[in-house]
Amino acid sequence: MSEHSFRRLSLADAPDLLVVMRRAEGGLGRLPGEMDLPWMEEALAGALAGGVAIGAWDGHRLIGMIKASRMPSVQFQHVLWDLTIAVDPDVQGCGVARALFAHLLESAATLTPRVERIELVVREGLTHAIRLYQRVGFRQEGRFERRFRLADGRFEADLPMAMLL
Ligand SMILES: CC(C)(COP(=O)(O)OP(=O)(O)OC[C@H]1O[C@@H](n2cnc3c(N)ncnc32)[C@H](O)[C@@H]1OP(=O)(O)O)[C@@H](O)C(=O)NCCC(=O)NCCS
Repeated sequence: MSEHSFRRLSLADAPDLLVVMRRAEGGLGRLPGEMDLPWMEEALAGALAGGVAIGAWDGHRLIGMIKASRMPSVQFQHVLWDLTIAVDPDVQGCGVARALFAHLLESAATLTPRVERIELVVREGLTHAIRLYQRVGFRQEGRFERRFRLADGRFEADLPMAMLL
């Protein structure tokens, strides 16, 4: 059971968010050296404009985040995509990600236009993350072969997953 606090992120949280993202980089689509403050601010602003961005705190320390952006264009406005979740390695395995998903769904349910679908992409080697996504209701919808190149040069498929609300 998580005893952390959760609230919506604001642009002012971008520097703390950058620290969490760099520390949690293992499964993320960017390496720590590719993450800087302008990128973090732009990514956060994108999610805040019609999507969802929620942080988890241990006291005053940001220890996790989940965000998803509203897809642009009228015909896709019911979709949140590009979901990113990251939890500080110090507190992984403590239920923070599960709680972040619960807060994301609660927030998404309040949005207008109504959210009908949430999308993410995960590389096939992140089996613990895939299991987590399946448990909270995501289903695999396809397979992008040789899309993710690991540091040792090997490729992994990227798996598009979606949850229908
Ligand atoms: C993936 C990630 C967000 C999970 O966060 P977390 O807070 O550790 O997850 P939780 O503690 O809520 O655990 C959720 C479930 O996954 C399991 N789990 C978490 N980490 C695990 C690990 N390293 N190995 C095996 N299982 C794990 C938990 O046992 C739990 O299972 P349960 O629901 O049956 O109890 C976190 O590992 C992370 O930030 N990784 C680096 C960034 C990343 O890979 N993001 C995803 C990119 S697609």
